[in-house]
Amino acid sequence: MKRRNFIQSSVTAGAGLLILPGYMQSIKGANDRLNIALIGAHGRASQLYHHINTENIVAICDVHADKMSLAAAEFPGAKRYTDWRKCLEQKDIDAVFICTPDHHHAFINIWAMNRGLHVFCEKPLADSVEEAREVRKTYLANRNKLATQHGTQRHAHENFARVSELVRNGAIGELKVVQAWGSRTHNEKGYRPSEGPPPPTIDWEQWIGPVRMHPYNSGYFSAERPGSNCLNWNMFLDFGAWQIGDMGAHTMDLAWQAIDADLPITIEATGDSWNPEVAPSDHHATFTFPATNWRGEITLEWFQGTLKPEIPHSALDITRIGHGVMFRGTKGTLIADFTSRILIPDREGADMTYYNAPDKNMVAPEFGNFWAQWINACKGDPMKTTCNFDYAGRMIETLYLGLAAHQSGKKLHYDSSEGRVTNDPIANDFLRKEYRSGWVLNG
Ligand SMILES: NC(=O)c1ccc[n+]([C@@H]2O[C@H](COP(=O)([O-])OP(=O)(O)OC[C@H]3O[C@@H](n4cnc5c(N)ncnc54)[C@H](O)[C@@H]3O)[C@@H](O)[C@H]2O)c1
Repeated sequence: MKRRNFIQSSVTAGAGLLILPGYMQSIKGANDRLNIALIGAHGRASQLYHHINTENIVAICDVHADKMSLAAAEFPGAKRYTDWRKCLEQKDIDAVFICTPDHHHAFINIWAMNRGLHVFCEKPLADSVEEAREVRKTYLANRNKLATQHGTQRHAHENFARVSELVRNGAIGELKVVQAWGSRTHNEKGYRPSEGPPPPTIDWEQWIGPVRMHPYNSGYFSAERPGSNCLNWNMFLDFGAWQIGDMGAHTMDLAWQAIDADLPITIEATGDSWNPEVAPSDHHATFTFPATNWRGEITLEWFQGTLKPEIPHSALDITRIGHGVMFRGTKGTLIADFTSRILIPDREGADMTYYNAPDKNMVAPEFGNFWAQWINACKGDPMKTTCNFDYAGRMIETLYLGLAAHQSGKKLHYDSSEGRVTNDPIANDFLRKEYRSGWVLNG
């Protein structure tokens, strides 16, 4: 029975007994338009308007009056909000498109899914291990009816599929070690100082949202280019996690989609000495993952800032690859950035006779448009997104475990079914954030 028919007949059959949640929306067909609430309506969102303006943008939510005006000019018919909790109460919404700062992501994701709404969320999906687990859990409970997509749009580059195929088909022999890196650095030492009361054009209470209150400083908003302002706040730990939630999410996605990883069993990390206000600029995390049915146990490493993996060949200069991944196997090495790849067989495997390249018909087809994939899934099969919140949740949880290990300074053993560190009780405190009273993650 089609879902729409099922819902209709359930209502009739259970007359007086069945209470449908107020948020249960009509099921959209391929030719219907989705009603989307855009939360975080300018900045990164403005770079994506042309991907979603095929649909009805029925609500826009932003805390900056000037950003709201820009978004309202684009979507004049949309209702306007400064508090996303109020926005989610609008009854005609089918889906939510989240482009706010990171510290709101997990909250809006969960609140939206709890109200039966499809969700697109910019990376990172969440801002702590606990948040990532809670988002994933909520998604898994709704996966048959809600389409989700995590904003790692580089996933649509053809190179992602080719890299995955080379690794899985044995082009480097048996996979042993995966090393991903990102070269951005920062010099911040602590939260920005007070500049006095915030201007009337910003709802500062709402910008801060669930995390501890901090004084207003215009330096959090000094970017000139939309989509780059995150680099003014995402190194401060209450608002983000620096590159782990930024380019690290994209770069790790290139590794993650090829290695079929679940969650790590051990984690250790080094780098800059721990600063409770600011995420480390230099950070190197090492994760071990159990074997799967096609590979043995592997080590995954994330290098950040000035730290880089050792190069497999003296002729290579990986400092020229700002964000890259190196897959090391028993027969060779594959180095990739988002759009290109270099395969280096080891000396003894140089003829590559061990490698059975797949038939042309067996390679993955073109991915298509990343955002259209989500929109189509909202109207059709909700499972048909590539970066859903199960896939992305495990990846983001792993990256944040690296940060927890950095803070702990110990090699952590992780029970992924419980989400607990088993050998360092204090480290469990590093898996979660404190929230201001009145803010509930799973609301
Ligand atoms: N996928 C990508 O390639 C990519 C690129 C750039 C940014 N991003 C992500 O997009 C997000 C936004 O980054 P940005 O640089 O646009 O940041 P930003 O500081 O410009 O904020 C984006 C928008 O959200 C609004 N906003 C802030 N707090 C809000 C709140 N509580 N409720 C509603 N609106 C709020 C801002 O006023 C602004 O219009 C970040 O999570 C970032 O990681 C992703």
